[in-house]
Amino acid sequence: MQQSTPKAPIIEVRDVTKIYQIGKTKLRALDGVSMQIFPGEFTCIIGRSGSGKSTMLNMIAGLEKPTKGHIRIVGKQIERMDEAELVQFRLDNIGFIFQSFNLFAMHTALDNVATPLMYKGMSRAHRQRQARKMMTAVGLQSHMNHKPTQMSGGQQQRVGIARALVTKPKILFADEPTGNLDLKTSREVLRLVRTICRERNTTLIMVTHDPEMAQYADRVVKLLDGKIIENSVNEHPAPINLVRTLEDGTVVEIEDTETEQADANEG
Ligand SMILES: Nc1ncnc2c1ncn2[C@@H]1O[C@H](COP(=O)(O)OP(=O)(O)OP(=O)(O)O)[C@@H](O)[C@H]1O
Ligand SMILES: [Mg+2]
Repeated sequence: MQQSTPKAPIIEVRDVTKIYQIGKTKLRALDGVSMQIFPGEFTCIIGRSGSGKSTMLNMIAGLEKPTKGHIRIVGKQIERMDEAELVQFRLDNIGFIFQSFNLFAMHTALDNVATPLMYKGMSRAHRQRQARKMMTAVGLQSHMNHKPTQMSGGQQQRVGIARALVTKPKILFADEPTGNLDLKTSREVLRLVRTICRERNTTLIMVTHDPEMAQYADRVVKLLDGKIIENSVNEHPAPINLVRTLEDGTVVEIEDTETEQADANEG
C-alpha cells in the first residue's frame, strides 16, 4: 500500500440530482451522484449517450443548477450562488472547451483568445500580450489573424483551448473536445490539453468517447442512467509525453522546463 498525504478535494459533489421536466414528463438526468476530484487530477467521464455526462459537467462548472444536492468547488458552495456570482466565479476559476469550438466567426483567432480577459478588466495591450503567448503555446503563432473559417478543425479547437486557458483557470472542463475531429487530430489535441494542464497543475475534467484516453486519466468516472457505476483511481496512468504542436500541425516532444523558461522570460 502506498502512503499518500491526504489532500483537500478541489471538487466535491454530494447527492446531486438533476430532474428535467418536459411537459408532464420528468426525466432524472442525474440521480443522487456523489464524487470528489483532487487538485491537478485528470478525470475522464465516460458512459453511453444520454447517461448524464454533459449534465454532470455543466452542473460542476456552474452552468446549470442541480435540482437537489451540493456542489463545492475551490472551497465555494456554488449551488447557492446567484447568476452574477456564478459569472464571476467561472471567470476566476473555470475554463471550458466545447465540442463545436464556439468561436466568434467574425473575430480573428487572437481576438477570440483575448476576449475572456476583457471581462477581467485588463488593458488591451496586456490582453493582446497574454493572448499571443497562449496562441504560441498551442502552436498557432502564425495564425493570430486568421478567422475561424480560415482554419482547420484541429486549429480551431487549439484556439478554443487557448481561449479556455488564457485566464489561467484552476479547473478546465472539456465536453467531448475532439468529437468533431479525426482520430489523429483528436489525439494531438488531447495530448496538447493534457500537457498544458500538467505544466500548470490545472485540474482537467473531460467527457470523452475515446477509450484510449481513459488509460491516461488519473480517475475514470463512468455513468449509466444518471448514476455513477464506476469511480476508479488509476495509480499508474500511462505516461503522456509532453508535446508541443507546431504550426503545420506536427507534434513534437518537449522538455519540461521549456514553458517555465518562457514564463520566467515574460516576467
Ligand atoms: N435541457 C434539457 N432538457 C430536458 N432534458 C435534457 C436536457 N439536457 C439533457 N436532457 C436529458 O438528460 C439525459 C442526459 O443527457 P446528457 O446530455 O447529460 O447526456 P450525455 O451523457 O452527455 O449524452 P451524449 O453522449 O449523447 O452527449 C438525456 O436523457 C437527455 O435527453
Ligand atoms: Mg453530452
